[in-house]
Amino acid sequence: MILKRTHMCGNLRAADIDSNVVLNGWIAKRRNLGGLIFADLRDKTGIVQIVFDDTITDELREKADSLRSEYVVGIKGVVKERQSKNPDLPTGDIEVFVNELEIYSEADTPPIYIKDDDNVDENLRLKYRYLDLRKQKMQNNLTFRHRIVKVTRDYYDENGFTEVETPILIKSTPEGARDYIVPSRVHPGSFYALPQSPQMFKQLLMVGGTDRYMQIAKCFRDEDLRADRQPEFTQIDLEMSFVDVDAVIEIQEGYLKRLFKEVMNVDIETPILRMEYDEAMERYGSDKPDTRFGFELVKLNDVVKDCEFGVFTNALAAGGDVRGICIDGGSAHFSRKDIDKMQDSLKHYGAKGLVWIRNNADEITSSVNKFFSQEQLKEICDTMNAKEGDLCLIVADKPKVVFDALGFLRRDIAKKLGLLDDSKYNLLWVVNFPLFEYDDETGEYNAMHHPFTSPRPEDIDKLESDPGSVKAQAYDIVLNGVELGGGSIRIHDRKLQAKMFEILGLTEEEINEKFGFLIEAFKYGVPPHGGLAFGLDRLVMLLAGEQSIREVMAFPKNAGAQCMLCEAPAPVTPEQLEELFITTTEGQN
Ligand code: AMO
Ligand code: AMP
Repeated sequence: MILKRTHMCGNLRAADIDSNVVLNGWIAKRRNLGGLIFADLRDKTGIVQIVFDDTITDELREKADSLRSEYVVGIKGVVKERQSKNPDLPTGDIEVFVNELEIYSEADTPPIYIKDDDNVDENLRLKYRYLDLRKQKMQNNLTFRHRIVKVTRDYYDENGFTEVETPILIKSTPEGARDYIVPSRVHPGSFYALPQSPQMFKQLLMVGGTDRYMQIAKCFRDEDLRADRQPEFTQIDLEMSFVDVDAVIEIQEGYLKRLFKEVMNVDIETPILRMEYDEAMERYGSDKPDTRFGFELVKLNDVVKDCEFGVFTNALAAGGDVRGICIDGGSAHFSRKDIDKMQDSLKHYGAKGLVWIRNNADEITSSVNKFFSQEQLKEICDTMNAKEGDLCLIVADKPKVVFDALGFLRRDIAKKLGLLDDSKYNLLWVVNFPLFEYDDETGEYNAMHHPFTSPRPEDIDKLESDPGSVKAQAYDIVLNGVELGGGSIRIHDRKLQAKMFEILGLTEEEINEKFGFLIEAFKYGVPPHGGLAFGLDRLVMLLAGEQSIREVMAFPKNAGAQCMLCEAPAPVTPEQLEELFITTTEGQN
């Protein structure tokens, strides 16, 4: 028999004393103390202590004695004031004296503890995710995510957006990652691609007159995974007709303001600061700068151009840069060994070394003492605004390597020094991204955002003569150094779109094959339009104070893109392959 619930476990308080209640949940813990049996009963709202005292029947006592962790039960009982109160528990002032117990199901000893702060291997957590989800923190995260989605739908609904579902079985949408593909049975040898984003369909919705579109959209990208990336993730996807950059940004700022207030009770200031892409790179070495701390990059090209140190002068001669960051009070914080470790970590970004200068009281010391006089080192320190006790760290290389290395280093050091203040929410628009990205290896230009992004009107005449200098009407929203979302104003002029494809080196055939349907649609009246997509998982992660998006997804994949629960991906039967006209070379080589 199912006992009909009157209350949730975690909501009972002193005001409920003397109430008769019916609760359902899991046994979290059970202890026998002489005549009394205590247990913790858990549901998604929390834990409450239940008690079987010496007045109960033998039959009930026998049942209570049989309870083990994770048994699922229903109880009837009376709320009483607790003798030894537990101030750490919201229900710690009361306990429930049981007079009826229904055991719905028994449970084997669980392979992981149901405890928020256990240190169990993540793959094990993911294999038993249904147990992991019983943790209070995980239930809170799911509920929190739900609230964010609810506020999101409400806000955009109130602002005239229509939620539209776009298809999952499509042709490739270019967002820069590899596609997941799905074979077609009825069209042998043909494949669907799963959407990397609804990009082309949302643009078609604008052609179709939807005017303002939003979707909580599943996206699929086959790329290398990190703490803030999953192969399958969710976007808050938006598109608007008859807008410019300011109009798109204004709507999103209204959303962020409302969201932060409703779910965090945090007031964010609008308009949100806008920073040029070039400035973000110069000052922070990153297009997603964390502005909660300083350590800004300083260009040293002029100061070192005539020095004796070949590494610096050679880098400059090759068109590279010499830049550094100054760590306040860093000299005493970081040993020679620490700096060696930093240098190792920078190899990943292509940096070949790391010069240090300690601005100590008696003397300025450096890893390159022999190449520099005290005066020269002092001049570098002065340029970097280094005070006594500061540590300067310098990298010389191609601009991209210098930016990537120092961009990483400043954040890594801030983390080590405990400067990443979780209570701060530094939001920032990065605007005017370059339209193209030059690929050193292929010698070709690629679209930095995607090929539908519009150049700034004032740059259009440089498209052919100097594509590298053309800026896009593209913007990213950044929160504490994480790219939360990005978007652009799209090209709605067919000729301009054709020119764009030409610069990207696409042939007529490739264009037709990849985007023919979009180009065709643009023949029949296309409104000027633009939009943006937020990464929902990242947004929830940051607002929940989590370090990984896996903590705010119910069933994420592991770092190997596997579902530990259902063990996907997995081989399929030869019959299935045959039906799809597929043979695999795996295992044959
Ligand atoms: P973009 O590729 O910048 O833009 O994606 C938008 C946002 O989606 C999130 N995101 C991810 N989150 C988790 N795992 C991933 N693998 C992942 N990849 C991206 C990020 C990112 O900012 N169609 C365009 C948007 C537009 O132009 O309107 C797009 O998809 O938070
Ligand atoms: P070396 O002469 O190679 O022993 O290098 C002397 C110092 O220069 C070491 O501290 C190296 O870490 C540093 N160094 C070497 N290459 C670079 C570079 N590209 N940028 C910054 N420092 C470098």
